[in-house]
Amino acid sequence: GAPVAAKGRNLMVEGRPRLVAVEGDITRLDVEVLVTAANSRLAGGGGVDGAVHRAAGPELLAACRDIGGCPTGEARITPGFKLEARYVVHAVGPVWRGGHAGEAELLAGCYRHALDLARARDAASIAFPAISTGIYGYPLGAAAAVAVGTVAAYLEANETRMERVVFSCFGREVHEVYANALAALPGRAGPSI
Ligand code: APR
Repeated sequence: GAPVAAKGRNLMVEGRPRLVAVEGDITRLDVEVLVTAANSRLAGGGGVDGAVHRAAGPELLAACRDIGGCPTGEARITPGFKLEARYVVHAVGPVWRGGHAGEAELLAGCYRHALDLARARDAASIAFPAISTGIYGYPLGAAAAVAVGTVAAYLEANETRMERVVFSCFGREVHEVYANALAALPGRAGPSI
């Protein structure tokens, strides 16, 4: 099912929105935890995962090999190696099969697992790409609604040190879709930058 709508209580910190959409390359963001869109073998790939592995260096793939794999809808964590980020979370999104194969719940699971892993390390900032919306074919508007709704609901439900959740938007179109999804949150998490 769709994520529970957040009520907006926990979406601001010291007058600033905790959720923001930022256009550009995720590897350039200054965050403690950087999330990548991996495959279930954690074998590296193209798209955002290719960019993250290039920026982190070959030790990242070695660390992924040691973990061995990750089921769809879950995530695993490694160090960030050459990245500014302390950690990389490898989230395995679902392949889009038309919307009736549990895609939304699996995608929401990626965001919840990633936030659980970040929370266990007391991280105050995290950046997510638009998981599943590239090679895996998940429609962007629907994926952005799941991403934003799941993160907002998580922050409502869990005490965390998380001050900033960045949705990394690769291209103007992606940014516009996320800005709209954020603007639709009750209690408003926007404006985006
Ligand atoms: N920074 C931020 N976002 C990026 C970047 C980047 N450097 N490069 C690509 N993106 C965006 C894409 O535009 C898309 O919106 O990331 C989103 C996710 O696209 P993919 O990387 O294709 O991820 P996904 O659809 O989840 O497919 C995962 O791709 O690389 C393989 O091994 C991976 O098999 C897995 C599959």
